[in-house]
Amino acid sequence: LRGKYIYAIQSATDEAGLEEIRLAALGKKGEISLKMRELGQMEPAARQAAGARLNVLKDEIDAALRARKAALADAALEARLAAEWLDVTLPARPRRVGTIHPVSQVMEEVSAIFADMGFAVAEGPQVESDWFNFDALNIPPEHPARQEHDTFFMARAEGDARPPHVLRTHTSPVQIRAMADLGAPIRVIAPGRVYRMDMDQTHTPMFHQVEGLAIGRDISMANLKWVLEEFCRTFFEVTDVELRFRASHFPFTEPSAEVDIRCSWDGGQLKIGQGDSWMEILGSGMVHPKVLAAAGVDPAEWQGFAFGMGIDRLAMLKYGIPDLRAFFESDLRWLRHYGFAS
Ligand code: PHE
Repeated sequence: LRGKYIYAIQSATDEAGLEEIRLAALGKKGEISLKMRELGQMEPAARQAAGARLNVLKDEIDAALRARKAALADAALEARLAAEWLDVTLPARPRRVGTIHPVSQVMEEVSAIFADMGFAVAEGPQVESDWFNFDALNIPPEHPARQEHDTFFMARAEGDARPPHVLRTHTSPVQIRAMADLGAPIRVIAPGRVYRMDMDQTHTPMFHQVEGLAIGRDISMANLKWVLEEFCRTFFEVTDVELRFRASHFPFTEPSAEVDIRCSWDGGQLKIGQGDSWMEILGSGMVHPKVLAAAGVDPAEWQGFAFGMGIDRLAMLKYGIPDLRAFFESDLRWLRHYGFAS
């Protein structure tokens, strides 16, 4: 009897099994309990001897059950510790973090540089009315400059005869909005997205410009030149910059100039500030009196300059990136290669 129970207890693998054994031996109808009850019919001498043996056996089984239960609990804890083991000395797994896009970064750099020269940031909508994008900038409906803008037009409801809205083709409409809102004197830049139907290595249908506008009582081309030189020195991190003003034409400035920066291509590597190449970076000029008037600023009292430059172009130049289209393909391998993603 003893061998049977001790063996069963040692072989039990869980608490439920142990409980079954306990009931079978020591439960009310258990084998040991029944034997205890049978003692009553025995002779006193035999009863005493058998009773003592049964009590010893009962205690043994009880002790074995307890011991086995404790052993099973220990084993369960061991197993859990082994399974949930954690090596706190392992180096952390590298985690990729998002980083700012090169165009956004350049936009912020440009804004910060002009902020130091007293320019506030102005904004306007990307879906712009025909009037703000063209008419107010001295580009009337029949003006040939309209063709050069490769404009995206918004759909109009059938029967609506008003000129359709456009995706703004430049940031210049923000000049009008800023002057109409804030009046003169004024010093603002307007960075943002612009759209033209154009696509090749140096053009994408969506790109970024930053507009500059400074209106005062005696602001001149000389001020324009200094502001642009100061900007280029800071942006390109060079002490010597040379800018070349080329006579040009924009309907909204008179006179107008396109501005080139002196540079060199040294084994495919662009160097700003030295060499015998010139790179066009922006369009500029003195704001046309008609533009001032359209924005509610009196041209008899106020004058100033405006410029517009391509932000993506600036980013290409600063970071030596050859293909503009790659900026907008969100290819992480490309972004990582140029150090713009981890
Ligand atoms: N809006 C012009 C363009 O997109 C740039 C420009 C801005 C020129 C302001 C002169 C003055 O090409």
